[in-house]
Amino acid sequence: TVVAGVAGNPVRHSLSPVLHNAWLEAAGLDGVYVAFCPPADNFERFANGLRGGAIRGLNVTLPFKEAALAVSDRATPRAETAEAANLLLFEADGTITADNTDGLGLLGAFAHQAPGFDARSGPVVILGAGGAARGAAAAFKEAGAPQVRIVNRTLAKAEFVAGALGVVGRAYALDASDEALSGAAAVVNATSAGLTNGGRLDVSLKATPEAAVIMDMVYQPLITPFLAEAQALGRRTVDGLEMLIRQAAPSFEAFFGRPPPESADVRSLALRAL
Ligand code: ATR
Repeated sequence: TVVAGVAGNPVRHSLSPVLHNAWLEAAGLDGVYVAFCPPADNFERFANGLRGGAIRGLNVTLPFKEAALAVSDRATPRAETAEAANLLLFEADGTITADNTDGLGLLGAFAHQAPGFDARSGPVVILGAGGAARGAAAAFKEAGAPQVRIVNRTLAKAEFVAGALGVVGRAYALDASDEALSGAAAVVNATSAGLTNGGRLDVSLKATPEAAVIMDMVYQPLITPFLAEAQALGRRTVDGLEMLIRQAAPSFEAFFGRPPPESADVRSLALRAL
């Protein structure tokens, strides 16, 4: 039996076990996917305890993505660029390999829910300047976006993230969001506003072109107020659940040696578990 899992704190609401176990069952594979909740301040000890042992790999979620990269012995370029890992593989020789499939998940969600979208067609706007925003910005830069505009409540953090992107990076304060949104090919909400009670993102999407594709990384609820506004304006939207599923697929292949079976409708399953 191949064992894999997800580590997060909290981890109780993670949908990853639902996705992976449904794929395992549909594929008829001898594997299992479990959830771990290591202490928030000691991921290193947890991961080191798994070296060379029974577990093939782990997905890593908040707040451990940076610690996961730090504990690894080698990392893929995309994990290095994101300065975070969402996937660890425990090799037979006791070493740990870190990877990051969040960028693939983000672009895969766009490809699936906004067919024909081309990141090269115009500026991409990222709202937020935390880890999630940094990963999204790197993915769109890699996909050929001519400009990546970072909009953040704290301008200094936007400037830092934009600076790391080189010539394609631009920084904007939240009150300059109309300027950032004008001409945008895509807008991604990567802030944690709305995750916490009362936190509301003070951005209007009215300044976006009709063809802009709007995405929210938050998937609880599936249609966030941000996506609801986008839909009311007639914009195409991409949701965070699709990104979750699309980042899980390459993880599944890394753990179990084959891509997930197409036959399993994991999106419906996940929606029921939300
Ligand atoms: P993560 O690593 O998950 O991306 P983070 O590093 O805590 O999370 O970043 C959260 C992001 O959401 C930040 O960009 C934060 O803005 P600040 O840098 O100004 O703190 C943004 N954010 C959180 N609540 C917000 C709110 N109510 N309005 C606007 N932005 C908000």
